[in-house]
Amino acid sequence: MSDKREQRVDDGLDRGRAFQFSVDGETVTAYPGESIAAAMLAAGRAAARRTAKRREPRGYHCGMGVCWDCVMVVDGVTDTRTCRTEAKPGMRVETQHGVGQRT
Ligand code: FES
Repeated sequence: MSDKREQRVDDGLDRGRAFQFSVDGETVTAYPGESIAAAMLAAGRAAARRTAKRREPRGYHCGMGVCWDCVMVVDGVTDTRTCRTEAKPGMRVETQHGVGQRT
């Protein structure tokens, strides 16, 4: 995606100090309290994982931890729901292919 741009509303908000984490090797900016999914969407990245059979991109659907469409590999942990996981400085997020083991 070449036309990524910041998509946050900034009307006088104090978001705190920005920090970075990586998604598939690219730097994404986040602010304290944001989920990984929110920061990725703000950066213009809509796909979280790819389906196992057809490798089709899946994006955020429910945004509240129910659908599991947002799972990614976060610091080596598969099936991490990025809509429910707070972004942290330096974390490494990777696209997941299919879904792994759920309990
Ligand atoms: S978007 Fe549905 S579980 Fe994350």
